[in-house]
Amino acid sequence: MSSFSGKVVLVTGASSGIGKATALEFARLGATVGLMARRGEELEKVAAEMGGKGIVLPADVTDEVAVNSRVSELVSQAGGIDVLIAAAGISLRAPFETTTIETIRRVMDVNFMGCVLPTKAVLPYIKARKGCMIAISSLSGRKGTPEYTIYGSSKFAIQALYDGLRIEHMRDGVNFGVFCPGFVDTPLRESVLKGDGKVYENPPKLPFRLWSVDLCVNKILRMVRGRLKSSLLPGIIHYLLTADDFVFRGWISDMVLRYKFGYWRK
Ligand SMILES: NC(=O)c1ccc[n+]([C@@H]2O[C@H](COP(=O)([O-])OP(=O)(O)OC[C@H]3O[C@@H](n4cnc5c(N)ncnc54)[C@H](OP(=O)(O)O)[C@@H]3O)[C@@H](O)[C@H]2O)c1
Repeated sequence: MSSFSGKVVLVTGASSGIGKATALEFARLGATVGLMARRGEELEKVAAEMGGKGIVLPADVTDEVAVNSRVSELVSQAGGIDVLIAAAGISLRAPFETTTIETIRRVMDVNFMGCVLPTKAVLPYIKARKGCMIAISSLSGRKGTPEYTIYGSSKFAIQALYDGLRIEHMRDGVNFGVFCPGFVDTPLRESVLKGDGKVYENPPKLPFRLWSVDLCVNKILRMVRGRLKSSLLPGIIHYLLTADDFVFRGWISDMVLRYKFGYWRK
């Protein structure tokens, strides 16, 4: 798929950040793009930038009825679906001990069920076209990370979901891929939740560098074109984690995270 002309892509989280930038790139490459998120007015603006290639599908990804009816709407308007990019998500940074159960449920609901519901809704259509699904996880969905304990758990769950689906659907010709970026420069940085479920007034300083949205879009496009099952940003982390697990049983990365998140003293 070097051009996506004639292809239909559904992007969740299309009103902002990684989802929005990825949706715009698919439209630029000729795809018809279904834009899903809660804020319909933001989706209208994204669609307006696409010159007729965008179909606005406002829905909360945790609402099964809304997701199913929006997917049916996309199929009846565009004729089918080739690609799903499941990018909708929220962030939480807080120690587990001070995180309320309500906040934990909310993050699991949006990040995990918000990937499950669109995946289930589009599966028959993507199977029919031997298409591809990419879920946006995180590096904390690859390596347990302090204060991202619950956020990371929601992303580990996505990894298990797509790894299992890949094997279940190997003979159907559907590709399931998981993209795991580090910190990315998006509006998410201003809406990170505290343990009580409220947004930080001053989000904590980042322990690692911030990556650009454009790099994410390139990696996601490469995954779809190459039918890759996994991609990390930065890519070298894959080799570092593998070597650390193999040689030191993860001890080095535990120590790096302990230092970076200030857990030497705690
Ligand atoms: N930015 C980072 O540092 C980073 C790092 C690793 C992984 N990620 C992951 O990348 C993905 C995209 O994040 P981003 O950085 O692009 O964040 P963002 O700019 O805040 O975008 C998040 C998107 O998710 C949508 N969303 C949130 N809750 C939703 C719900 N209940 N129903 C439907 N849509 C919902 C938002 O739309 P509405 O508000 O309009 O609903 C928005 O379009 C997320 O899964 C995030 O976990 C981000």
